[in-house]
Amino acid sequence: MNKRHLICIIAAVGLSVAASAQPEGRKLWNQGWTFSKDGATRVLDLPHDWGVEGNFNQEYPGETGKLPWWGKARYWKTLEISADDLTKDIRLEVDGAMSNASVFVNDIKAGGWAYGYSSWAVDLTGKLREGKNRIEIVLDNKPESSRWYPGGGIYRNVWITRTAPTSVAHWGTFVTTDYTWDKASVNLSVTLKARKPGTVSVRTTILYKETPVASAKSTAGAFNGKEVIQDFVISNPKLWTPENPEMYVARTAIVSADGTDIYDTPFGIRKAEFRPDGFYLNGERVFLKGVCLHHDAGALGAVWNEDAWTRRLLKLKEMGCNAIRCSHNPPAPELLDLCDRMGFLVMDELTDTWTVAKKPNGYASLFDQWVDKDLTAMIHRDRNHPCVILWSIGNECGEQGWPEKWDIPRRLTELCHREDPTRLTTAGNDNPDAAFTGYAGTIDVYGFNYKPHLYEKFVKEHPGTPVIGSETSSCISTRGYYLFPVSADKGAGWTMDPPFQVSSYDLYAPAWASCPDYEWKYEDAVPECAGEFVWTGYDYLGEPTPFNMDPSVLTNFHTDEEREAYRKMVAAWGQTIADVPLPSRSSYFGIIDLAGFPKDRFWLYQARWREDLPVAHILPHWNWPGREGMATPVHVYTSGDEAELFLNGKSLGLKSKEGYRIVWDNVLYTPGTLEVICYKNGREWARDKVETAGVAKKLAASIDYNGEDLVFVTAQVTDKNDIPHPLSSALIKFEVTGDGVLVATDAGDPTSHVSFLSPELPAFAGKASAIVRRTGKGPITVTVTGRGLKKTNITL
Ligand code: GAL
Repeated sequence: MNKRHLICIIAAVGLSVAASAQPEGRKLWNQGWTFSKDGATRVLDLPHDWGVEGNFNQEYPGETGKLPWWGKARYWKTLEISADDLTKDIRLEVDGAMSNASVFVNDIKAGGWAYGYSSWAVDLTGKLREGKNRIEIVLDNKPESSRWYPGGGIYRNVWITRTAPTSVAHWGTFVTTDYTWDKASVNLSVTLKARKPGTVSVRTTILYKETPVASAKSTAGAFNGKEVIQDFVISNPKLWTPENPEMYVARTAIVSADGTDIYDTPFGIRKAEFRPDGFYLNGERVFLKGVCLHHDAGALGAVWNEDAWTRRLLKLKEMGCNAIRCSHNPPAPELLDLCDRMGFLVMDELTDTWTVAKKPNGYASLFDQWVDKDLTAMIHRDRNHPCVILWSIGNECGEQGWPEKWDIPRRLTELCHREDPTRLTTAGNDNPDAAFTGYAGTIDVYGFNYKPHLYEKFVKEHPGTPVIGSETSSCISTRGYYLFPVSADKGAGWTMDPPFQVSSYDLYAPAWASCPDYEWKYEDAVPECAGEFVWTGYDYLGEPTPFNMDPSVLTNFHTDEEREAYRKMVAAWGQTIADVPLPSRSSYFGIIDLAGFPKDRFWLYQARWREDLPVAHILPHWNWPGREGMATPVHVYTSGDEAELFLNGKSLGLKSKEGYRIVWDNVLYTPGTLEVICYKNGREWARDKVETAGVAKKLAASIDYNGEDLVFVTAQVTDKNDIPHPLSSALIKFEVTGDGVLVATDAGDPTSHVSFLSPELPAFAGKASAIVRRTGKGPITVTVTGRGLKKTNITL
């Protein structure tokens, strides 16, 4: 059964370690920073997001998660420098700090970076003294700068890198590859830095699983910015594909009078091509089965954590997803390492805005001064990753409809081509007219946000230009919540009243969006479409459409009429839009909820994206006290083509797939067992069943993901016969003993204001999740108690 299969795959995938390009002398520098904000000072380890530690506040904008992420803060730490260190070059590398960072070395400003999503470095060489040095990072995270939860703080890794004075420059390598039948050619460009001119020997070995497969040696004059080119041939290369993401490493030694410096560049051998009729990897057509993701990891906020993201990606892989769009900003570099190793194709995106502002303090205010630096930083950091297949220069930028401003996308595309001639550019475009103007020629691959009905017209009018669904569907739903009567009207899945949830029949979407089925109809009709990136793989903090009525939210009010309609509705309640006390703090768009529990849609996508996997999934759940005898539509998602539904053993008929699901509209609810048997080509293919649960009596605990650092534990409320209870909102408490601590909890309810740090929370649709950090090598026991429920525990 597919749901059990999920857990097996997760347990079976072991990840080998391979990281982004880096010098040998690069060391994590995350431990023991002093943090000061709003008059309180304490010592902590990075990565750190001060927003997610705070309490949800009804007064804060739901659009950015109702968490206190803005403000000014300082982090400082002592860097011990030996006499030997002073002979080296030293730099501080920051993978991401939110935002407007300034770095001070012994109280003198040494550098910084404005955009919170860029990675950057500060050269400390010549600025340090022997002994103790104070390194301070000051942040100024401005309010009204984001359309989603940005987080606040140094939320990604920080490194100190020591190199010989003559060595590879920061992000100073660029590998390109090509291959024929039995040989690959590898071209490596090495950019050097040198304190003073001299001669160096550049010796590179290409390693496959630590075994040398090719090498080259060059002698060169070394000076700052000197480029050394080396070529290699690899026999019988192992190609990188999503199924077999084979990686190589180019290990480069720079040998000079200053000593030897080693720099590793992981890379893959693959040919990624967008052709007018789709995307091709190594010569084979691959449909991009992608999802868009924001950078937060639910209850961990913006904090980068490899285990949390491995868990997230494994679930997406299980669904059949093969591509990620990092929306709308460069991701943590380690996310790309994971995508390299796990086999995801990535659209790496720069920004949500060019010069036309969406928020008063958003990227438009940085654009003129920073865009070239940010885009160059993204490309130099990420261009060796085989997973990256496209540079997206922006999302829904207002300039699409403004010919005088098309110079901007043209220039950004040129910059991308100059810094990386091997990849094409795209952008997420929402302006339907722009596709048929000169704007389309400013990017290489045309990305449509929510306009599948234009794919065909675009292909006809631009026969040479590849096209993708850069952002699709934006279906909204709440796990385990269903509203009756079921209507196919896309706006009928919620009401503007409590409980502020959206029906999970996967038919509902805001005005500009659609259910998945609508998008697929066009994808199937236009084979040239290279694929799609669904909005979104996971729920994220902020943007809780349709319960997000902050008047400034562009996406909620696409037209003046829409804004006016909301205003009138709220006025009828005797309030203004700004007063409406909507509790929602996280999105409803995810295929998987904020806690990491799949919603029904997970199986709708799985049935389409993994057509060879026997998938059967029934919705809704079968606990409807009060609906006895009433029509309760049943939808089945299957990779089969027909299905027979049984209620308490009695057949309700065999039906064929119409469109992308099988529907029984007139099932009269009777408690008991609802079972489906799905068929493919006339043979039994997959089954699923839901049972009416009795009174909630017990708790079951299971390991959802078991990482080296974090363990994710799921608590499930059941009846006395272990049948999952789909309605329970029992108060649950997690207690951790042994070698672990509780880090965060969540149940996936977008309206919950219980702090993520609380050990107690109401179950949501019968489930809750706890994130536990290992603090040693010994066992950890997680005890789960619930009011009125038999307690349970699990030892990790
Ligand atoms: C798009 C936008 C996304 C998100 C989405 C919600 O227009 O690009 O960032 O807001 O709408 O449907």
